[in-house]
Amino acid sequence: MFERVSVAPADPILGLNEAFKAETRAEKINLGVGVFKDAGGNTPILDTVKEAERRLVNSETTKGYLSIEGTAAYAGAVQKLLFGAQAPLLDSGRVTTVQAPGGTGALRIGAEFLVRQLGIKTIWVSDPTWANHNGIFAAAGLTVKTYRYFDADTRGLDIDGMLADLSSAQAGEAVLLHGCCHNPTGVDPTIAQWGQIVKVLQAQDLLPFMDFAYQGFAAGVDEDAAGLRLLVEQMPEVFIASSFSKNFGLYNERVGALTAVAKTPDAATAVLSQLKSIIRAVYSNPPCHGAAVVATILTDPELTARWHEEVAAMRSRILTLRHEFVAGLKAQGVQQDFSFIAEQKGMFSFSGLSKTQVERLRDEYAIYMVGSGRINVAGMNTDRMTYLCKAIAAVL
Ligand code: LMR
Repeated sequence: MFERVSVAPADPILGLNEAFKAETRAEKINLGVGVFKDAGGNTPILDTVKEAERRLVNSETTKGYLSIEGTAAYAGAVQKLLFGAQAPLLDSGRVTTVQAPGGTGALRIGAEFLVRQLGIKTIWVSDPTWANHNGIFAAAGLTVKTYRYFDADTRGLDIDGMLADLSSAQAGEAVLLHGCCHNPTGVDPTIAQWGQIVKVLQAQDLLPFMDFAYQGFAAGVDEDAAGLRLLVEQMPEVFIASSFSKNFGLYNERVGALTAVAKTPDAATAVLSQLKSIIRAVYSNPPCHGAAVVATILTDPELTARWHEEVAAMRSRILTLRHEFVAGLKAQGVQQDFSFIAEQKGMFSFSGLSKTQVERLRDEYAIYMVGSGRINVAGMNTDRMTYLCKAIAAVL
């Protein structure tokens, strides 16, 4: 029967990574997958993660199963990070969190819940969005519709288009929102624009599902949650998918969480029970290690403070690279204005490079980026900046 199976196309992001690994040219540069690199070109393990791991090795007494939803310590830490340590929501009983294998796992469990428990058929995603959103939601049986988001002329947010498109959504449909550091554009709403978005969600009776994968990479851990905190203040029901791949550098440990804010404690209890039943049939119960690391850091004030510093250092390195890149292009005589790159937030920028230019960069210069022209700024390196900017100037 396997003879009948045709070959699936490579994933636009992870497939590119595989191609990069197979690349033999020494000058190769990977600006594809969203992974942070330090000045030495490595994706480092955070010091706080190493310290938490040392503590865990010394204190762990068992490798027995976790419960289906993960540990209470982890869920509590996730909620504090999302809503703030003093948030009244924390003691309201209206919030429930399940551990999930990465942000992707959280999105998929959430999507299954939307379909099976709420009978939701449609989810709206930004145009453009992270390529995998489409695959995740379609696999759960949702129809994916898009709302306008990126204004190619201003390289900013098309807030009018976004509000107009969301106003055409039907009551009871779901809307995927990026918490901060929009992937792939690096363009986020201002807090005033978040207010406008919330008003439309309320007016149309839509269910917000926030993908929050880069908390701390735009302005700060608490600052980046401003949109989310407004959302949960004003909306009775919200779903949030957290990922700790980037801000804890725990990419291969697959650490994420799905948090539901419900109207009442009883509703939250029922939601948790159904999420557990979905998880049981998908992967039974979560892996322990990465979540234990996150919980160890976030329940120790000294480690938490050090982690905030480490996130700030990653954020500041990315910002420096953004400025170096803009200056580097200018130095190579590029006429086009790329100053927007320095304004965008998080790991990614939408460069505006065409598919053909992206292909030329790969074929002629061994520089890899996603076909849409998305650049992972966090993958750049000061030492290679001149090579990169020269190559881009050449294809432009
Ligand atoms: C990305 O967008 O590059 C990251 O979120 C990694 C991934 O899984 O695609």
